[in-house]
Amino acid sequence: MCAKHGQRNSVFNLKPFEFLWVFRGIHCEAFSLNTALKTYTPPNICGSVSAYPISSNNKAIVMSFELPPLPYATDALEPYMSANTFSFHHAKHHKAYVDNLNKALPGTEFEGKSLVEIITASEGKNPGVFNNAAQVWNHTFFWHSMKPNGGGAATGAINDKINADFGSFDAFAEQFKTAGATQFGSGWAWLVVGADGKLKVVKTPNGENPFTKGDKPILTVDVWEHAYYLDYQNLRPKFLETFLANLVNWDFVNERLDAPLFEGTK
Ligand SMILES: [Fe+2]
Repeated sequence: MCAKHGQRNSVFNLKPFEFLWVFRGIHCEAFSLNTALKTYTPPNICGSVSAYPISSNNKAIVMSFELPPLPYATDALEPYMSANTFSFHHAKHHKAYVDNLNKALPGTEFEGKSLVEIITASEGKNPGVFNNAAQVWNHTFFWHSMKPNGGGAATGAINDKINADFGSFDAFAEQFKTAGATQFGSGWAWLVVGADGKLKVVKTPNGENPFTKGDKPILTVDVWEHAYYLDYQNLRPKFLETFLANLVNWDFVNERLDAPLFEGTK
């Protein structure tokens, strides 16, 4: 820990999903994080950690967000989600949200804040900043909500909690698919832990996220048309059925169930 800035001084301590911290370039006399990032690949689902910019004089703080890497190869989820879909959804749509956020931040009150802070502070106040920031967060969460050979019945603690709070896995699945299918236009379906500690399914329009309403997201599926059109055309229900049957990363859901709301997601 850097005594001056209170910043972690080792990427070797990174936990899964911590790449979403979207690092700030900070000059610490005793530590060059840039050097460490060039030589280290974390042994976790993130695969690699993107470098981040440091100003030309290597002293001032420069806030810039980068497109997080996928936690798997672009063809790893085939045939359920194609490399072609990822070539647009991750490399173009997700990247555009990152780029647009970086363009929108300079000179605003949100500059220099974490992604979560920006989302929370800009909602209802600055749609341009909020929409892009929230979509950056949401998409990264979505990539980690899936894995190769995923889906099927829930496993671990989340399975017990689904049975306790929904009555059965089938009841949960029906609610989740209905939420995704009935979200008019663009948006997201989520499994969240509510303020009362119980699981519930919610849907949000556009880039909105349940955490600004006090719920803790633990699973999401993107129901914007760009998420499924190349593979499923207009058949959103078929995409949702496949997401639950073949793509959900229940290990990730269990991690999020145990984790504090924003651990590793700032
Ligand atoms: Fe999307």
